[in-house]
Amino acid sequence: MPFRPNGRPTPAGSVDNVAIHYTETLIYAGTVDLARKVILKMTEKATILDYIGNTPLLKLRQVSDAIGVDIFVKCEFTNPGGSIKDRMALCMIEEAEKRGDLKPGGTIVDQSTGNTGPALAFVGNVKGYKVRIFLPAQLSSAYDSADRVRIARFYGADVIPIDLNEHMENADRLQGVERAATFVAIRMKQAHDLQRGDPSNWWANQLCNVDNTRAHRDFTGREILDQMDGRIDGWVASVGTGGTLLGVAQALKEKHPEMKVAGVVPTDDPRIEWVRSRAVHNALEMFGVPKLRFLIEDLLEGKVMDDEITIENADAKQMADRLCREEGLYCGMSSGANVCAAIQMAKTMKKGSKIVTVIVDRRDRYFAEYPNEHYVV
Ligand SMILES: Cc1ncc(COP(=O)(O)O)c(C=O)c1O
Repeated sequence: MPFRPNGRPTPAGSVDNVAIHYTETLIYAGTVDLARKVILKMTEKATILDYIGNTPLLKLRQVSDAIGVDIFVKCEFTNPGGSIKDRMALCMIEEAEKRGDLKPGGTIVDQSTGNTGPALAFVGNVKGYKVRIFLPAQLSSAYDSADRVRIARFYGADVIPIDLNEHMENADRLQGVERAATFVAIRMKQAHDLQRGDPSNWWANQLCNVDNTRAHRDFTGREILDQMDGRIDGWVASVGTGGTLLGVAQALKEKHPEMKVAGVVPTDDPRIEWVRSRAVHNALEMFGVPKLRFLIEDLLEGKVMDDEITIENADAKQMADRLCREEGLYCGMSSGANVCAAIQMAKTMKKGSKIVTVIVDRRDRYFAEYPNEHYVV
């Protein structure tokens, strides 16, 4: 049973932490043998889901020394499912179980091109559910999700490509934000229709599910507060669903109301714009999906973000290369973008300030795209 110095209960109620609590009590009482037995008993009951969360927080040595501001990274790739999406997948699923929306024998459905597909497949599989993930048949020039698809399928998920042309006339005429938003809306419609047609299907709906935000507020954010032990001047994270940026910001700002929060926006996939321009709402309406509220709306209306920092693909990739070579962090491109943005934020801050960001996943999730990896969520 590994002891983790900064342990907190994970959404699953972490065996580690319950064990730590009991064993500390027993050790104080001088009963080390009994403590060992308790740990063994709890280890027997643990599943891999009990090891989600409690991820390390590291200070970037070379990067911080070069700019005079301390940049800390929360290493989410150490989650057992390999990415930042483990906690939100677990939290969304367990809250749906509690509400009775997801029942034994049920199927979890959602759309994803990024890490949510593998995470729902991982957690869903361990809990005995079927998992069905919709992804676009025509991947924009932006990315090739072959590696994430392969991982989700290894966990047992059914991954289904959706061809927009089969659902819409003149789809090829769409451009930019409207095109991307329509692409995602058609896949959301598949999940929506499956759930409506048969309630044994539960649509996780990562883009709108408040339990996504909750996972990051109650777990990722609280862990960061414990690990930073005192001062935090800035929080920076890429915006996909917005769950990470928003949830962690809510937890951190409660303790540090004066701190700065910045969202990172990729140049070729500005997801905040899907929502701000209402392109995604319009597309959903066109496909007959009832009105939905997106987490990004909570982010924008709650005025949580002080700044939006746009990072070019080339800079994000260069930073991912540097983090691998200089800091030993073999991370994907969006993690590189997060660190680039943290450096930009650092330029507006006093020497000695402390900024936290996140290493989202490992780079081997993007081998199919190498050397032209892009952002995904
Ligand atoms: C690869 C990847 N996964 C997950 C995330 C988290 O995004 P969100 O919580 O906004 O969906 C990001 C954004 O940083 C990402 O780039």
